[in-house]
Amino acid sequence: MTTTKERQPTDFATAVERLSKVSVDRHFDAYRDVAWDDPEMAIDPEDPRFELWLDDPLRRTDWYARQPAEVRSRIALHRVATAMRIGWEFENVLQRGLLEHAYWMDGRQPELRYLMHEIAEECQHMLMFQEFANRTGMDIRGMPRHMKLASRMVVLLSRTFPAAFFMFVLAGEDPVDYIQRKQLKEGGSHPATERIMRIHVTEEARHIAFARHYLRRQVPALHGLRRRQLAVMAPIIFGTMARLMAFPSPHTARTFGVPRPDLRRALRSPSGRRLLSEVAAGPRRLCVELGLTRFPYSLLWRVMGVWDDPRAPGGPDEVAPLMEAAAG
Ligand SMILES: [Fe+2]
Ligand SMILES: [Fe+2]
Repeated sequence: MTTTKERQPTDFATAVERLSKVSVDRHFDAYRDVAWDDPEMAIDPEDPRFELWLDDPLRRTDWYARQPAEVRSRIALHRVATAMRIGWEFENVLQRGLLEHAYWMDGRQPELRYLMHEIAEECQHMLMFQEFANRTGMDIRGMPRHMKLASRMVVLLSRTFPAAFFMFVLAGEDPVDYIQRKQLKEGGSHPATERIMRIHVTEEARHIAFARHYLRRQVPALHGLRRRQLAVMAPIIFGTMARLMAFPSPHTARTFGVPRPDLRRALRSPSGRRLLSEVAAGPRRLCVELGLTRFPYSLLWRVMGVWDDPRAPGGPDEVAPLMEAAAG
């Protein structure tokens, strides 16, 4: 009889080989597969199809409702282009980490080939994201500076603590995937954002699947201290990345003069809290499955506002400094 332990390596190798095959069968090119110069793809900052998505905390503020339609369009365009620039920076960190991780791998491991496919796909995503941001004609900035500096540590993790690095990978990819799928379901997007999101969710499904397979294989094999370190790091990584990906950036808020109290109220509202909890739902379920969320680590998930009950004591109210950072 085959045990789970004996079956695992083969299952992992089979899954990775399948992901590599699909990467060849179904992949996109940023310039061949997006009709940038088609007249219907032209970006007009006052196009009414640029509207904040329904779950965006800023969309629910009275301040946003009071803005004229053309200003709301400009805000929404700045917001989506900023999200793409943040995506560009996140994928840059991800690629550097994957390259560092791959550098030390045995070339016969099937995941080496898959990782090279993933790096190539992220290059195409970055080309799409930056092209879109440039075509807005706006001053678009990505992550706050302190996060850009901290990203060097993440690259290092890919070598020193790969399980934590792949948690970071999921923490960026899963919330973006959740948001983009929901936006596509809402419909009514501008053709350029719609095309970019469709390409992105198709390829990210593979990246997310790989990170999950990897963590399911690696985490049970970690020794006690490493497991405890990962249990502490996971909610901090997911809480920080969920805010970065789901909340308006400080630069967007400053550019349009969003009053800080309005934004802060929106981020702390029940819907703002629910959004954080929802974008982190996929990775949270995986961490529960891996046994990383037991007491006392569950408290950290609550403190970071990414547990499944956003009204629970110790929720987002206790992470005021992070909220402040998000509000600029
Ligand atoms: Fe991507
Ligand atoms: Fe990705």
